[in-house]
Amino acid sequence: GTKLIIDTDPGVDDALAIALAALSPDVDLLGVTSVFGNVPLERTTSNARRLLELFGRADVAVAAGATRPLVYSKPRDAKAVHGGDGLSGHSSTLPESTRPLDERDAVRLMLDILEASDEPVTIAPIGPLTNIAALLAAHPGAAAKIARLVIMGGGVTFGNSTTAAEFNIWSDPEAARRVLVEEDVPVVLVPLDLTHRCAVDGEWLAKLAASGPVGATLEGLTSTYRQHYTRVFGEDRMVMHDAVAVAEAISPGILRTETYRVDVDCGLGPARGQTLVDRRRLGEDDPQFVPGRPIEVAVDTDLDGLRGFVLDRL
Ligand code: BDR
Ligand code: CA
Repeated sequence: GTKLIIDTDPGVDDALAIALAALSPDVDLLGVTSVFGNVPLERTTSNARRLLELFGRADVAVAAGATRPLVYSKPRDAKAVHGGDGLSGHSSTLPESTRPLDERDAVRLMLDILEASDEPVTIAPIGPLTNIAALLAAHPGAAAKIARLVIMGGGVTFGNSTTAAEFNIWSDPEAARRVLVEEDVPVVLVPLDLTHRCAVDGEWLAKLAASGPVGATLEGLTSTYRQHYTRVFGEDRMVMHDAVAVAEAISPGILRTETYRVDVDCGLGPARGQTLVDRRRLGEDDPQFVPGRPIEVAVDTDLDGLRGFVLDRL
């Protein structure tokens, strides 16, 4: 099975994404690392640990990562979307973790896993890219052991945190630029444009709730988040962003990708954190060519197939 690390800021859709990997028998989930993001680090860490307990996966190590962005020190959050505790106010309904928090920090745990593995490991970063940037900056050799970074982040044509920027990139644009543009590591970027098309409806959520105790608990965690998206869409629909990326991480090819040059706006203006996806396909000798690294961007999938794939495994 796929050897996988998830780097996460749970987060309601993170919870679905972790569930997808943790409950898939063909996935070798080697570790989970936490990062600040939707809520502060202390909370994302405890949410990750409780979620793994719920999934019967106390065998999976959890290590805590960055509390704030690399360059600009004030972290922001998405409490308005995910609730003050990151899980729609229901985190205390999850079982307490029986496994102690790993003594190593997120970067060290990732490095140890990569070094110990005889095969390259896939990493699914589904929060701000701070931990991943720190790993690659401090340990350049780590890139050779990474099969792919399957990242939920960015937007080709729109943002969510701002008009221009998607939350994970906007939360730490300098880290995102390092990972997406400066480093030489295989990346699949799963942007908002695709995750929004993979939204699920009330019927899908009802099936999740009816699937068993874990499904019922997961469905319960969606309440605040689902209300937010119902306002966004004007109907009962919910986006499972991070689960779309993890689906690709554990089932390579489930998303169709195209290669585009990508850059990240690290300016301090209104486009800060925007992903610039160059769809012009210019040659390097074209006068209008701008640099940016060619990476794979997920553009399409069998939408019903994807929704079914996630539901089956949860
Ligand atoms: C991303 O931002 C977070 O709020 C979600 O968990 C997801 O990773 C979507 O923009
Ligand atoms: Ca997330």
